[in-house]
Amino acid sequence: MGFPDGFVWGAATAAYQIEGAADQDGRAPSIWDTFSRTPGRILNGDTGDVAADHYGRWREDLDAMAELGLDAYRFSISWSRVLPDGTNGPLNRKGADFYSRLIDGLLERGIAPVATLYHWDLPQDLEDAGGWPERDTASRFAEYAERMGREFGDRVQLWTTLNEPWCSAFLGYASGVHAPGRTDAAAALAAAHHLNLAHGLAVRALRGVVRPDARHSVTLNLHHLRGEAEAVRRVDAVANRIFLGPMLGTGYPADLLADTAPITDWSFVRDGDDEICAAPIDVLGVNYYQPTLVSLGPAAAEPGADGHAVSEATPFVGCEDVAFLPQEGEHTAMGWVVDATGLDEMLLRLHRENPGLPLMITENGAAFDDKVDDGRVRDDRRVAYLRDHVAAAKRALDAGVDLRGYFAWSLMDNFEWSYGYSRRFGIIHIDYETGTRTWKDSAHWYRALIAADGEEAESR
Ligand code: FCB
Repeated sequence: MGFPDGFVWGAATAAYQIEGAADQDGRAPSIWDTFSRTPGRILNGDTGDVAADHYGRWREDLDAMAELGLDAYRFSISWSRVLPDGTNGPLNRKGADFYSRLIDGLLERGIAPVATLYHWDLPQDLEDAGGWPERDTASRFAEYAERMGREFGDRVQLWTTLNEPWCSAFLGYASGVHAPGRTDAAAALAAAHHLNLAHGLAVRALRGVVRPDARHSVTLNLHHLRGEAEAVRRVDAVANRIFLGPMLGTGYPADLLADTAPITDWSFVRDGDDEICAAPIDVLGVNYYQPTLVSLGPAAAEPGADGHAVSEATPFVGCEDVAFLPQEGEHTAMGWVVDATGLDEMLLRLHRENPGLPLMITENGAAFDDKVDDGRVRDDRRVAYLRDHVAAAKRALDAGVDLRGYFAWSLMDNFEWSYGYSRRFGIIHIDYETGTRTWKDSAHWYRALIAADGEEAESR
């Protein structure tokens, strides 16, 4: 009993993390350009200026995807590459042509393009106008979505509005470890609402212009929580249900509003917003890396134990009395615990709470200190990680979850946000000096897995 027919095997990347060409062909700066060029923000002072030079090497990368046998490729569009003058300005033809060629190249190779509109790279002009805490940003996003829909809607069959809005709102505006680096809990909650709104507006806008058989989705990094019930409830509210509620039609949970009442009165939510945020989606994307262990107690038992870069300010606003506990077991180079059981448990929860909603694992993977040795990268630990998580996906399927696909994070090593190039998540190794791509053992393993429809096979 293998994976069901039509199960999608893919790999994922994001624009700012791989493209480079930050100032090329008319691209304007995003908040990540500004942030990464600010001293002290990124480990080793790295920026995405060059990254994996996917902008220059996209053909070679497409060929690698074809060789891997991918069914689908999840990439993101850089908003400031296609609309450098803001949403009302003219389309930057050169920027749009890049994605057009990429999409055509995928289709020619029999790989389905999965386009994410927003993977954290807000045009800097929009941040200067207030960013996500401003309601207007949601409208600008909807306009951008519609223009992308008109441009690529004849060819893209699966659209994703946002990647991990939790990170955009709370790492960006509360703990400040991500761009734009603000530390304002009230602004972060407003940002979360405007991201929910942006998502709904974008789904509506896309549906009006793209091919009728296109499907629409959003990707969330749901925190799979374990530990003391009251601590779990609090974090679940401000990390998970703050998005699941509005997007899936039950609105903001009452306990979230109560927990955050000392921070904001939520007056940024207007009549009619509930209906917009709940624009129906066809599939929910889930990114999973590790479970989270919490208890009530003195804040942050160990710096960074929640899996995110350390900051004085917590991203978990309203959870100042929750401790994020270190977990037993193997850890990756991110310090994240390796535990695949959280993946099927989380998928089962989503399935139970939202029967009939198709799910997709849109990211899963691990960072390790990989070295090229005689032309080969022996990343056994990544192979084991991926294998265990694919097995968890299978358990979820066997338990009745409507799971449609699995995307490895990442196709290639890339700019890992505040950690710069120091953390390697790719199944393909990037030599940042030369741009050379080398398949890690995990890439060979993944190719064999896909060829055998998810069954384990000899990979080299
Ligand atoms: C996710 C992001 C992705 C990558 C992985 C490791 O939170 O969506 O861009 O950084 O983590």
